[in-house]
This record gives sequence, C-alpha cells and structure tokens, in this order.
Amino acid sequence: MTVPDPQFELLLAHLKEARGFDFTGYKRSSLGRRVNRRMSQVGVSGYGDYLDYLEVHPEEFTALFNTVLINVTSFFRDPDAWNYLGDEVLPQLLAAKEVNSPIRVWSAGCASGEEAYSLAMLFAEILGPDEFRDRVKVYATDVDEEQLAEARQATYPEESLSALSPERKERFFEHFAGRYVFRKDLRRTVIFGRNDLVQDSPISRVDLLLCRNTLMYFNAETQARILSRFHFALAGGGVLFLGKAEMLLSHSNLFLPIDLKRRIFRKVPQRLPAPVTFLPDPPDTPVHRELVGLDRLRNEAFLATPVAQIVVTSDGLVALTSRQAETMFGVSSRDVGRPFRDLDVSYRPAELRRYIEQAQLERRVARITDVEYPRGGDTAYLEVHVNPLVDTDGSLLGVALVFHDVTAARRMQEDLEQANHQLEDAYEELQSTNEELETTNEELQSTVEELETTNEELQSTNEELETMNEELQSTNDELQNINDELRDRSRELSAAEMFLDAVLTSLRAGVTVVNKELDIQVWNRQAEDLWGLRREEVIGQRFLSLDIGLPTDELWPLIRRALVGEGPQQTQLAAVNRRGRSIVVRVVCTPLLSDGAQPTGAILVMEQAEAGEQRSGDGGETRTTPA
Ligand SMILES: C[S@@+](CC[C@H](N)C(=O)[O-])C[C@H]1O[C@@H](n2cnc3c(N)ncnc32)[C@H](O)[C@@H]1O
Repeated sequence: MTVPDPQFELLLAHLKEARGFDFTGYKRSSLGRRVNRRMSQVGVSGYGDYLDYLEVHPEEFTALFNTVLINVTSFFRDPDAWNYLGDEVLPQLLAAKEVNSPIRVWSAGCASGEEAYSLAMLFAEILGPDEFRDRVKVYATDVDEEQLAEARQATYPEESLSALSPERKERFFEHFAGRYVFRKDLRRTVIFGRNDLVQDSPISRVDLLLCRNTLMYFNAETQARILSRFHFALAGGGVLFLGKAEMLLSHSNLFLPIDLKRRIFRKVPQRLPAPVTFLPDPPDTPVHRELVGLDRLRNEAFLATPVAQIVVTSDGLVALTSRQAETMFGVSSRDVGRPFRDLDVSYRPAELRRYIEQAQLERRVARITDVEYPRGGDTAYLEVHVNPLVDTDGSLLGVALVFHDVTAARRMQEDLEQANHQLEDAYEELQSTNEELETTNEELQSTVEELETTNEELQSTNEELETMNEELQSTNDELQNINDELRDRSRELSAAEMFLDAVLTSLRAGVTVVNKELDIQVWNRQAEDLWGLRREEVIGQRFLSLDIGLPTDELWPLIRRALVGEGPQQTQLAAVNRRGRSIVVRVVCTPLLSDGAQPTGAILVMEQAEAGEQRSGDGGETRTTPA
C-alpha cells in the first residue's frame, strides 16, 4: 500500500482514539497486509465496513492487535549474536563499570519474555547468581499487555527451550507438570511493564538496550524518533543491540558499530569537536634561514591551492586570498588590506562574520555546512571552515576561511542515501515477510503434528484390524475344517443312503416307514409296484390317508402297538393292487428304533400272500398275529 488510502487512515485514527494504539508510524505495506488478513478472517472486505465491525464487536480489537503485533520470539534468538554479546561485549561493558555499581538493562519489545530471561541467564552466568541479584535490573517492556502477562508467568513449554543447552535448562528452570518455570530468585530481577515505543518516554541511564526485531515494523521517520530516544536512554558508553535484519544507516551520528554484522552499537557521546588550531611555522628556524625566497614560495603555494581560501587578520582586514577565491568570489590581491566585512563574500553565499567572531572567541574551528552556491545555472554546495590562527604565545593572529566544494560528495551521499533507503526498505520488507513465514511455518508445524497424531491413530487402528484379520483367518480355518468334516460325513451319509436304497429296492416286499405322526418317510420300489403311487407322491403324506387299494385304517392298531414298542405284528388284509386285482396282502409292522429305547416310527413290510396261504374270503376279513 504505497498511496495512502483515506479509509485505511480513518481506521488507524479510530484505533488510536478508541484504544490508544498509534499505528500511524508503522510501515504501511506490512501493516496493511496484516489488517487485510484479519479482515478476511472475519469476512469483511472494505476498511469502512471493518470500522463498523469493530464498533459492533469490541472484542475484535484484541484479535486485530494480535494479528498486527507480531510476537514471534525465542530464547537466544540469533545465537551467534548472543554468543558475541556474552563473550565479548558484556565483559567489556562490565569491566568499564565501577565495582558493585548497578547495571541497568532494557529489553524493548520483549514479547513473551524469552529475550529478557536470556539476558538474565547471560548476566547470571558472568556475574554469578548473587552478584547478579544485587546489581542487575532488567526492564522488559512491550505494548502488548497479553504478551506481558505471559512473560510475567515465566512458564514455557518444553519445545520453547530447544535452543538452550541441557546445562542452562537445568540451572535456570524448574520443571512442573510438563512445563518449565524460570528460577524464582532470578526472576525477581526482571521487571515487566507496558511501554509504547512511539508514545512513551524511554527508560533512562541504561547500560545495555535491546530492541530486536521491533524497529523494522516502523517507517523511517518513526524509527529515527525512537533511535534518538534510545540515544538519550543509554548511559555514556552504553550498548545498543538490534535485530539482525535492522538497519542503522541514517543514524550513524548517534551510534557507532561495535559489530555491524551482529547489529551491536555503542552510543556516540554528543560533545563538540576539539579545538583545532593552525599554528604558523616557528619563525627563524635554522633550516628556513638557509632557504632563499621562502616567503615568495609560501605566497605562491598559498595562491595555487585548489580550494578557495581567504586569510583575515585579527583586525578584520583581508591578508591573503588564493586564486581559486578570485575565480569563485572575485576577491583578489587588490582587496588585501581592505576590511573583510566590506566584501560581498562576507555575507554571500553565507553570513560569515558571525562565524569569524565565534571562531576567534572560542579558538576552535567553526563549520558551516550545506552552503548553496549558484554556479553556471546549477547549484554547487560548499562547506566553509573558519580556522582560528593562533600564535605560539597563544595570541590570535587571524582566521583562515577555507571554502571546500563538496558538491560531488554531496551528490554521491544523496545517491547513497537513496540507495540505502531502498535497500533498507527491501531488507525490512523481506524480514517482515520472513516473520510472517515463521508464523505460517508454526501453523504448518502444528498441522503436521495433527497429521502425525492422526497417522498414529490410523496405524493403531490398522494394527487392530490386522489382529482381527488374523482371528478371522483362524476362525475361517476352523470353519473350513468343520466344513471338510461335514462334507466327509455327508459323503458317508449319501453312501449309506444309497446302500439303504439298494437294500430297500432289492427287497421282494413293499416297504414303507412312517414317523410318529404317521407321515411316510420311506416308500420303496415294490410299494410303488403294489399300489401304483410313486415315491415322490407319497413321501411326507399321512399313511392312513393314502388313497390306495390297501385299507390302511385297518393297520392303525398294528402301527399304534409298534409305536409303543411292541414287537413285530403281522396281519393279512384283503386289498386291491394297482392293476385292480384283488389280492391278499401280508403286512408286518415293526417298531422303528433309532438309537434310544423309544420307537421313533414304524416299519411296514407289505407282501402279497402266496396262493394257499390263509387268506380272507371275498369279504376281505383280516387276522392279526405276532410275527
Ligand atoms: C517480533 S517481536 C520481537 C520480540 C523480541 N524482541 C525478539 O526479537 O525475539 C516484536 C514485538 O514488538 C512489540 N511492539 C510492536 N509495536 C510496539 C510499540 N509501539 N511499542 C512497544 N512494543 C511494540 C510487539 O508487541 C512484539 O511483541
């Protein structure tokens, strides 16, 4: 978002007014991206609508701030820079301090506190726990109250401690119910508080100031303001430790790098430059006396100097002018002896008289920078140095005005600054994208963990299924065995049945077998021949209801006796065979004994009596005798 969007600006103004959060100094590109992300999460598409949404849903402020204020952090984040801080910078910083004097440290933008506790660990290791408790105070601040509340707990899950060596973990943390708590006695040295870097006053007289991965969210102007506050906050010789992606190019007058790559700087004290004096050569030295025409030589050398120079006596008279001064300002040897204030150059292109007085008074160089000077339709830039000239006895001889042409240097500096700004922007953009990627990465990580859990569950389900499968397999094997046995039995039974059938078929007499209900079970070939009914027609029929030439009802008494177990009974009945011929049939009825003592039916053997056997007369009389 390069062109300001009025709706977006209105939204920022509302956040400031309603909640005191001033995001106007944040970089619009990443800020816009984050607000847009939140808007799409709640399903709102325009800034105006989102403003309405915030008014209706006040709880949305927290969600928005959580999205905008990126809280990614970790213990000893960028270990290389921390190692350097612990091994090189802190020992020097401590050595420069008076014995037992207090040490003040500020972690600005501390998020959930890992950075502040990392500092506490480093100092405690260097000083020992007792001296650490006595001397060190770590002030840890952030704008995000939720993060501060978390930081105050000083309780972290195991995975947060992955950057710590086992010794540090053991020495500085107590383990409770799967979480790690920073040692209480050392914890008291760290003081958490809310501080908005944009709006609040800084903490003062600090020896070490950390502001890591926070400045980059602000635009250049706000960064400059915050950095000048940091300069104020630091004590003399204080150290500033920034994030590895942060730039400090445009503020090099406030801080000097201790290690630029690791973004560790020392405060530059704001004092005036030391007096610079230009002493003339001692007069009448033996060497000079031997040289002939030395004054002439000096004069020529002065005239030929490529920079414009004018020397003015302590009385304010022009004493010397270089040729370049004539070219640039039209001042020449003709003006020597005239009061300098009468020349145009005394007030154009810059008011010089005031600086001449100042240099004479303070006996130090007065510098006038950024002096614009029209040259051939273009603008040149000068830096004018007013150098006091002091005699060996300390008396003032005059001043030398030196006009340095810095146009080329200035153009280069402007180009360089522009290039640096572009680089800075690109770099910071990259870093904030990186932070976002870290967040996304964490989200992906947790999705992967969920998938891993699901996978484990699937694996265990799979194992259960495999076990069930094995059980089913063995049940299947058992069933197969039973099936095989049944098939064998069935074959045996069929063989027995065939054998029985053959026996029944081979008998000369008709045979039928009935069960206890008198339903026909067996009906052999001779029975078919005798009575003209096929086996399929009679099996399952009631014997006594058969419509055949045999008076079956007369056989009931025999059958009843057989069913109660009485031995074979025999009778003869007059009957009519299938051809309609009257015959006498001898019937023997025997109980059917399966495996127990009780008969399960009766066997009736029916045979036509031979001629001459006793038979009934025409009336079909019957006679029953035991067989
Ligand atoms: C990415 S974290 C950096 C945490 C830690 N310094 C590090 O480097 O690991 C940025 C922190 O800056 C905080 N922050 C953002 N704007 C701020 C402001 N105006 N004043 C103070 N802290 C701010 C955020 O709340 C967040 O906790």
